[in-house]
Amino acid sequence: MRRPIIHLPWSILLVCTLSSAASSLQKIPASNLTLEHFDPTLPPALTSQTPPKCSVLVLQHEFANTVGEPPAIANYSHPPECPFPGPRVVLELSVSASDVQKDRIAAVWVDSAELLRTATPLPMSPGTFWSVQKDVTRYTALFRRLCGGFGGGTATVSMMLENSNATLPGVYSANVTLHFYRGPLSANRFGYVAHPTAKDIYRRPADLILPISQENGECSSGFWFRVDNDTDIPTAAVAVPRNTRRVVLEIFASYHANEEFWYANPLRSAYNGGGAYANGGFRQIYAAVDGLFAGGHIPFAVIYPGAVNPYFWSPVAAIGAFNLPTYDIDLTPFLSMFLDGQPHEIGLGVRDSQPYWLLSGNLHLWIDAWSDAVTAGLVEYRAPPLKVNRHAEWRNSEGGSEINAEGLVKFSGWVSSSEGNMTTTVRQKVKFRSQVEVQNRGAVTQVELMNKERLAVTVMRGGQQTAARVQVFVETPLQLQMSRVNAVGGAVFERGRLSHQLQETVNLNENGQAVSFGVLMDRQDAEGSVLKREGEAQPVWGSGNSRSSYKYRNGNSCYLRTLTTVEGVLKADLTSASCAAVAEA
Ligand SMILES: *[C@@H]1O[C@H](CO)[C@@H](O)[C@H](O)[C@H]1NC(C)=O
Ligand SMILES: *[C@@H]1O[C@H](CO)[C@@H](O)[C@H](O)[C@H]1NC(C)=O
Ligand SMILES: *[C@@H]1O[C@H](CO)[C@@H](O)[C@H](O)[C@H]1NC(C)=O
Ligand SMILES: *[C@@H]1O[C@H](CO)[C@@H](O)[C@H](O)[C@H]1NC(C)=O
Ligand SMILES: *[C@@H]1O[C@H](CO)[C@@H](O)[C@H](O)[C@H]1NC(C)=O
Ligand SMILES: *[C@@H]1O[C@H](CO)[C@@H](O)[C@H](O)[C@H]1NC(C)=O
Repeated sequence: MRRPIIHLPWSILLVCTLSSAASSLQKIPASNLTLEHFDPTLPPALTSQTPPKCSVLVLQHEFANTVGEPPAIANYSHPPECPFPGPRVVLELSVSASDVQKDRIAAVWVDSAELLRTATPLPMSPGTFWSVQKDVTRYTALFRRLCGGFGGGTATVSMMLENSNATLPGVYSANVTLHFYRGPLSANRFGYVAHPTAKDIYRRPADLILPISQENGECSSGFWFRVDNDTDIPTAAVAVPRNTRRVVLEIFASYHANEEFWYANPLRSAYNGGGAYANGGFRQIYAAVDGLFAGGHIPFAVIYPGAVNPYFWSPVAAIGAFNLPTYDIDLTPFLSMFLDGQPHEIGLGVRDSQPYWLLSGNLHLWIDAWSDAVTAGLVEYRAPPLKVNRHAEWRNSEGGSEINAEGLVKFSGWVSSSEGNMTTTVRQKVKFRSQVEVQNRGAVTQVELMNKERLAVTVMRGGQQTAARVQVFVETPLQLQMSRVNAVGGAVFERGRLSHQLQETVNLNENGQAVSFGVLMDRQDAEGSVLKREGEAQPVWGSGNSRSSYKYRNGNSCYLRTLTTVEGVLKADLTSASCAAVAEA
């Protein structure tokens, strides 16, 4: 049964006050907007050595008219004076926009393995700039190659950013820099050395990374796979070394065209001509090994900078927009399928998808240096498809729809290597709900989404003793309310309010001892109005206030950053090593 979303009195109120609100809106002069955009996430934990790093500008490119073009490519040569390997590598992408432009999706690859998927802000004034820093230590195996290890200096770095300066003049200038750090990691003033991106048992980076990506992407439209629907499951064939002892697949994803707002899709569109958007607000990204389902995740709804109201995301980006979340699937229970030295097909899919998604993957492999061949067996395979209930009630352009999904999967397999005979069990429980309600003849839309995931990966030695266990709890509530009225000249005036959160708890145990415990709370609230013209990326007018807070607790340490914006201007930006202090302030 569909439970109606609580009707908020303001949604009714809104419609009555819209016309007066519209007349009080002004175009905020470009000179008043904060030009630097931010994504308040955790700075990488670094080393204390001075000079701490060696930085290499690996790619520099102006993306002006790049739609349909191959990626920008640079040959990489690692400076001999630059230390490697070191404990940390950080990728920095810094970009400036010459003028107003649409928001775009971009990606950076080393050879054909993806390192970063990112969205640009929507530049609403010339000179908008930002930088994204990502701890890419996880990809050490790729850098070893860059630094002339195997394959000796033949590596390339490439970047895609499909831009057109035909309608809007903005050209994106991008620099990709790698910072190499050396020396022991220091507890910085916030005390953390772990990072919330480290969500797995394998604290040491993989020994080898095999890309699951489009072949010859450097000559065509990039290394990502395009997925158009449920049955479209691109695959890549990979042969893994016979002494592999652990495998984790990492999936990168972004959504485009009809899927740009998948999280707000009703089961039947209430808007005229909106039929293409009407397949509901549920998606699942998943992987298959030789056609066998091997695990999946419900994606986090990253709200793109042009979505809802661009003033909500100016100058503070939406959660995950600068560094789109990736989805890990531990394939170790399936290792027996890979160990014959033959190529096997890894497929990537999106359940309930429409045109189109861009997916790619990295297969992270840990190799047993002490044996030539590892043996493995799949013990348990329990993978009923997620139970999805869909319910919709519509009368003309009013009504609502609800999707509930839940499920439990369990995979277990042993791997016998020089470490011993270890059994890895992956257990994942998912509970999801999407509600979309449309009232007032399509004028008011309310969206509520909640995904709860509990994942546990357990490694048992000899079938009895727990060697390691990681537990990850994720909750991602999203609430969005929008009301719209048609204004003069074919424009639409919209008022909206949003609240979004990414909450993640990661608990790692080894040999019965707690090794690390991290809690991330990333939250954003925004409210405002915008006047848009159909088909135009740049709003005519707008305003928006937002509050973002990023809190990461790890053991006794805490990192908190809160930002407040008013009308596109950064009003407050506070960072604290005490979560309590700022919470009280
Ligand atoms: C723009 O900034 C100036 C100076 O801070 C201020 O006086 C003016 O009110 C601002 N205009 C708007 C529309 O916010
Ligand atoms: C990279 O190196 C190869 C081989 O030396 C060369 O053919 C190619 O033009 C170079 N590419 C760039 C972008 O410099
Ligand atoms: C890129 O690097 C060049 C040279 O160091 C610098 O002049 C330019 O400002 C940089 N651009 C961005 C967007 O960081
Ligand atoms: C697009 O940008 C390029 C490079 O800056 C420039 O040469 C070209 O004239 C621009 N095109 C338009 C239509 O502005
Ligand atoms: C799914 O997408 C593929 C690739 O674009 C296409 O060939 C196929 O016809 C589509 N299937 C359906 C049922 O739309
Ligand atoms: C590893 O352990 C599993 C059960 O825990 C057993 O079935 C398997 O035969 C063992 N493998 C080896 C190579 O000993």
